[in-house]
Amino acid sequence: MQRTKIKDILRNDATDYEVVVKGWVRSFRNNQFIALNDGSCMNNLQVVIDLNTDADIVKRITSSAAISVHGKVMPSQGKGQKVEVIASSIEILGDCDAEKYPLQLKNKPSLEYLREIAHLRFRTNTFGAVFRVRHSLAFAIHQFFNERGFVYLHTPIVTASDAEGAGETFRVTSLPFDNPPRNEDGSVDFREDFFGRSTNLTVSGQLEAELGAMAFSEVYTFGPTFRAENSNTARHLAEFWMIEPEVAFNDLVANMDLAEDFIKYIIQYALDHNREDLEFLTQRLVEEEKQKPQNERSEMGLIEKLEFVLNNKFERVTYTEAIDILLQSPAYKKKKFQYDVSWGIDMQSEHERYLVEKHFKKPVIVTNYPAAIKAFYMRQDDGCAPGKETVAAMDILAPGIGEIVGGSQREERLERLERRMNEMHIPTEEMYWYLDTRRFGTVPHAGFGLGFERMVLFVTGMTNIRDVIPFPRTPKNAEF
Ligand code: 4AD
Ligand code: MG
Repeated sequence: MQRTKIKDILRNDATDYEVVVKGWVRSFRNNQFIALNDGSCMNNLQVVIDLNTDADIVKRITSSAAISVHGKVMPSQGKGQKVEVIASSIEILGDCDAEKYPLQLKNKPSLEYLREIAHLRFRTNTFGAVFRVRHSLAFAIHQFFNERGFVYLHTPIVTASDAEGAGETFRVTSLPFDNPPRNEDGSVDFREDFFGRSTNLTVSGQLEAELGAMAFSEVYTFGPTFRAENSNTARHLAEFWMIEPEVAFNDLVANMDLAEDFIKYIIQYALDHNREDLEFLTQRLVEEEKQKPQNERSEMGLIEKLEFVLNNKFERVTYTEAIDILLQSPAYKKKKFQYDVSWGIDMQSEHERYLVEKHFKKPVIVTNYPAAIKAFYMRQDDGCAPGKETVAAMDILAPGIGEIVGGSQREERLERLERRMNEMHIPTEEMYWYLDTRRFGTVPHAGFGLGFERMVLFVTGMTNIRDVIPFPRTPKNAEF
């Protein structure tokens, strides 16, 4: 007989039919009631076994043992479930030594402990919910762009460029470490390397996406990106996934509209398709918040927060306005900020969080940042006062997360772009291919990057980015 998924049994009120179910035992009560989970949904299926079941089999029904059950779906007598399976036969597929099983050894394992056993944490309710939501968000992202006629462009993972110019790249090489070929001046001769030049893992697919947008009008990338920034925070990964749409003929306002529609669409998708998971995560958060002092607890529950975001327009302010708000704030006047505020600073997360959580209390799009703190490719604003040059940048800041999206309108004017690259010591000759788009049929265009894990954090209410990617890569950590 074909296996039936637990989700399909529970979702359906029908009874009196035979099934085969397979999964892992979550608990076993009174030598009679098995809570069985196969990952297809949050809830367990209750399996009732015959009291005359072979004692040898009963002994092997331990937590996380894998079993196969043949039985009949019947209305449940007990509380908590409408239907249950009355087993007619049970087969142990894989024993689990409960005395050694790491998840069994701790009563309420902490998220930190579970991070150390990330190879097993999928089997907990929390991580089951988180990774089902992560899946749904990824699927919704493709659906959103597909519905709008975007072309999914696979940009390279190995590149020779540093798109963000921040110098935080991981080198890719096949040269021997101990004795690499050298130039006369002693530097490493990368002409001898695998690609015949110095290469690194990509920090962003944007530059290549721009090339695609100049032919397809609308493209997006969705792939892994890598940054060797040594920030051991709850918001940074060395390997993370980014979604980067790039659209010809869009200006900054159209770019903001797209980003807002996009974020709302994928949140709505999760609410529609992962209700049970989100209800569980909402409850989890309530429990977690109980550990915090009253004044630090969030005012809204998780689902309530997501619905609030859907139903309200994101606030849009310029960087200059944002700085003014900070300078006028009680927090600034009472010297509550650790870092100083003045026009030109790269806002710290305390500043971003003040704007989002205290001042506007909703997602905020900050635009027109100082050119000096942004990447070379952003479109230079016209008519700026000397020393106050800004660019058509947009960052979206989300409550509890901070920056979730970074994007801009791009500098499509060749001379302006070249001048800026020269100022920032970005090699224009090597990047001829990028500049060619500005030489051959250039148009205004814009795009942005959404940090996928930060989005998953926002939707699941988890607080550490290591808990929303299956196998986190962070400084000094690449286990599993
Ligand atoms: O703001 P960033 O650096 O923008 C870019 O890379 C542009 N090329 C995007 C574009 O315009 N196409 O990164 C975009 C987003 C950030 O807003 C953040 O959400 C996420 O990527 N991000 C990280 N997420 C996890 N760990 C890190 N170390 C991250 N760095 C950036
Ligand atoms: Mg950014």
